[in-house]
Amino acid sequence: MIPSFLYLDRYRNEGTRVYSRHAGHTEAEPAYRPNSEVSSFDLPAFWIPRDELNIYLADPHAAQSRRYLPGDEALFCVHPQVLDSGGDDPYLRKALSFGGVKESIRVSPTSSTRTLYVREPGRAHALKVHFPFRVSRYGRRMRDEVVEQAINISRELQQGIGCFDSRFGFLREVLGVTYKDLDSGSKRGENWGYLVRDLEPFPAVLDRRPLVPGFSLYGRDFFEPEKPLFIFELIRGRDPLTSVLEQIMLPIIRHWVECFLRFGFLLEPHGQNALLEIGADGEVARIVYRDLNLGIDCRRRRDLRLPVDRSNTYNQMEGGDFNSITYDKFMGGHFFDRLVAALVEGMPGLNVEDFRGPCREEFARIFPEHRRYLPRTIQYFSEERDEFGKPLYEDTGQPPVWRP
Ligand SMILES: Nc1ncnc2c1ncn2[C@@H]1O[C@H](COP(=O)(O)OP(=O)(O)O)[C@@H](O)[C@H]1O
Ligand SMILES: [Mg+2]
Repeated sequence: MIPSFLYLDRYRNEGTRVYSRHAGHTEAEPAYRPNSEVSSFDLPAFWIPRDELNIYLADPHAAQSRRYLPGDEALFCVHPQVLDSGGDDPYLRKALSFGGVKESIRVSPTSSTRTLYVREPGRAHALKVHFPFRVSRYGRRMRDEVVEQAINISRELQQGIGCFDSRFGFLREVLGVTYKDLDSGSKRGENWGYLVRDLEPFPAVLDRRPLVPGFSLYGRDFFEPEKPLFIFELIRGRDPLTSVLEQIMLPIIRHWVECFLRFGFLLEPHGQNALLEIGADGEVARIVYRDLNLGIDCRRRRDLRLPVDRSNTYNQMEGGDFNSITYDKFMGGHFFDRLVAALVEGMPGLNVEDFRGPCREEFARIFPEHRRYLPRTIQYFSEERDEFGKPLYEDTGQPPVWRP
């Protein structure tokens, strides 16, 4: 029996937040953390006139529009830690100024802390909310341009789904609500809001298939740390090398390349964003990606003659440095290396090169022009930050290992 997705997302993730020196850091109150024993809490949501708000849509389910945008007013969801942390945020003050008429939405934290799983009957969905506290490397704001960008990417991927092979799926970001900008003089819009994420993987399938977060393959159980790792359950009775390559690693590499080549979007397939969808035969039917605030390689989009949005430049990249961060570090370093380390430790006779060699070959085969878009060495975040607190990038000088 595979535990529920929410259980795995919260509780089969111990020992994995070690991929960078910041990965274990959180400013979330204990009750709002994924790995706490608090099963759920109330998310305050205020009724705000719609003309105060920006609304972004990418084909939401009718029940989701009805829940969040029923008429002249919309629900404006505020994480309780934001509400408790005081009223000096102008958007929080504004939201409270409409009489404070509110609803409570019962939610549970997911692995990201600020994306909240809605515990209501009906179509499964999550709310990704503004959380300007640090979790891992960043403060987790949901600024207007960030919300809009996720909705735009979701819409474009949905329309272009035919570009992917049948093992690709994703969680759509279907509805976004933000406050209108109250300070047109600021260097960047600080107005914020939230996103509604549909939790039915797209494209839809008829049967129910369990979802397993990538990190749950090699993460320990919060309540029962001695439990065997899930990866050994998944490959039981199968050849470990071929099944891990064919069902997990090579599909993810193909998806990263397909997404890059067809859209210029940079998937971030670390263990938290890549979910395995398990078919009736116990094999991985699809990889389902969540979190669509992807980097956009403008050079690739120009090469494809695809539009480059001039009105929302969030995450637009001109050089190839972020391409390396997503492929070499998020996928290769944070996910594949950890998974292989668990396999090699549990199965003498395997070694890391057995996995890396075929991955490099597949990457070169399906992406012969990769030199044009990726740097020769691995790039990563530096400890330096820009004026908004965003980390700069640096060249590690290391040669890549998961691509030629
Ligand atoms: N094993 C893991 N690997 C990578 N990130 C993880 C892991 N476990 C938890 N996370 C958290 O996931 C968060 C990133 O996701 P985020 O963008 O906030 O939301 P979402 O993925 O729901 O869109 C980070 O805060 C990071 O700490
Ligand atoms: Mg994420």
